[in-house]
Amino acid sequence: MCGIVGYLGKRQAAPVLIDGLYQLEYRGYDSVGIAVSDGKKLKIIKKIGRVKEIETARDEIGRVGIGHTRWATHGDVTVENAHPHTCRNITLVHNGIVENAAKLKSECEKRGERFASDTDSEVIAHLIAAEYQGDLLDAVIRACNQIVGSYAIAVLCEDEPARLVCARMRSPLIVGRAKDGLVVASDIPAVAEEGAVLYSLKDGEFAVLEGEKIVICNASRAEVRKEPMEFDLEEGRVDLGPYRHFMRKEIDQIPIVLRQSREEIERNFCFSDFCKVLCQTEYIQIVACGTAYHSGLCFQAALERVCRIPAEVFIASEYRYMDPIVRRGTLLIAISQSGETADTLAAVRLAKRKGAHVAAIVNVKYSSLARLADTVLFTQAGREVAVAATKSFNAQLMVVYSIVAAMASIRGKKSPSLRGIEGKALRAIAAGEGVRSWVPYFAGAKSSYFIGRGEDMCAALEGSLKLKEISYLPSEGYAAGELKHGTLALIEPYTPVVAVLMRRDIAEKTMNAVHEAYSRGASVFLVTCFEEYCGRKEITASVLLPKCPPVFSPILSVIPLQLLAYYTSVARGNNPDKPRNLAKSVTVE
Ligand code: G6P
Repeated sequence: MCGIVGYLGKRQAAPVLIDGLYQLEYRGYDSVGIAVSDGKKLKIIKKIGRVKEIETARDEIGRVGIGHTRWATHGDVTVENAHPHTCRNITLVHNGIVENAAKLKSECEKRGERFASDTDSEVIAHLIAAEYQGDLLDAVIRACNQIVGSYAIAVLCEDEPARLVCARMRSPLIVGRAKDGLVVASDIPAVAEEGAVLYSLKDGEFAVLEGEKIVICNASRAEVRKEPMEFDLEEGRVDLGPYRHFMRKEIDQIPIVLRQSREEIERNFCFSDFCKVLCQTEYIQIVACGTAYHSGLCFQAALERVCRIPAEVFIASEYRYMDPIVRRGTLLIAISQSGETADTLAAVRLAKRKGAHVAAIVNVKYSSLARLADTVLFTQAGREVAVAATKSFNAQLMVVYSIVAAMASIRGKKSPSLRGIEGKALRAIAAGEGVRSWVPYFAGAKSSYFIGRGEDMCAALEGSLKLKEISYLPSEGYAAGELKHGTLALIEPYTPVVAVLMRRDIAEKTMNAVHEAYSRGASVFLVTCFEEYCGRKEITASVLLPKCPPVFSPILSVIPLQLLAYYTSVARGNNPDKPRNLAKSVTVE
């Protein structure tokens, strides 16, 4: 998945495109490119690496242009595979995947056409060029009819240099009017500025940007009228302030984010709607990916333990290939930070087709998921820049645990309280700084393990994911009791093991697993709220957290684990904000 941007107006396009691309780097940063037209000639600049690699292109002359930051899906990371792609008079940038690319490409090749790259995106340029008969919009519509898959494209044609045509199918795309020009982008921050008026395209819609006019239409060229999007300029504008990395800043924002999410729940109408829908439901399925999947596990654990409501959690990418049973009255809850994760969206579409009611817990307001769902609850994490999710996870937990507490009271059951959780999160961050002394044990380790039982296991899974994402150290999150059934064979002297222990009723059981690891030579680190375990001989070092209802405890216990991942990544000389091979918003399957 990738980020695209386009500009047509009175300013020089190159700086607008480059500044926009910086804002889209969270979508991928393997390679980057822009195409700028001065009305006579179109110039393309492409480089491997991040947006800064094309800084020198700022001086390119031309008031029309398109740009792209790439995360490789089809084809290696090479200059040839970087966008924009060209075929004769057509140049384009693309975000998405052309699923029938191989078939379309071989048809083009039979006609004698040559390809310069291994990408599926170049196929779209060939299709449009083949369909072009003097009207770019017509050619784009006809080409899109042949594509199976997802796309957000911005297309230039050398024969119509004052026009930019875009299309969307299952990849986000916004168009709008900014200062002195018209814009197109994958996301708001790339083009948001004072006074900008932005519109979100729906699947199957096209937009023509020309002069001072934007025309949005469907495949029959019937014009579509739209309400402008509301956006918060402040939220979109993120800066590091005194921090070295966004990830560290975002961890410090956790207490604020918890407060904002709680306030939103208290005043939001949809929250009681959401609980009502849940009450009427017989069968709950939860789908999500990555960190959001771990929120789903935490949600399930709390729903079942506090409310005695059964729920099933699915990795979204597995859901649709498992022929899921969607009974009458099924509620599918999708959890996602971006609301654009292709696997999550595919699961939602399938569940809807099968008749499920879909509820979403999502952070990004104008996301595809927010649009697709029947009921939506927004987390209030604000913009998260670091690829590895931190504050958005805690915000998701705040929302799901609030649902659990509300459901318990509706069902006449006693629920533990989340009161004071923001202050406790603040103390957890301060205590979590203690993990800095653990870093030497992790930074040079061959592998590491995170263990816990019940809710503690959910936190352990997330802690392990964080560490591998940004430090590139092999790591496994495991059920503490399962260690002895295989993983124990991997423990060697000094292998670092982190145990999470926030439930008193099973503390001794978790300590059994700790002892098993310790007696094989592991260095065991403890995250707990029980002081008495910190001094045990098996424990190399510990972080003591404030007490918290165990069923809600991942909201705190994950914090030292996020910090451990961060400091280990920095110690290994990595950029924790931009881990290799990963992207924040995974808009491809
Ligand atoms: C990517 C990100 C993860 C994130 C996952 C799900 O893999 O790198 O941090 O947890 O996608 O994203 P979502 O936006 O659906 O929560």
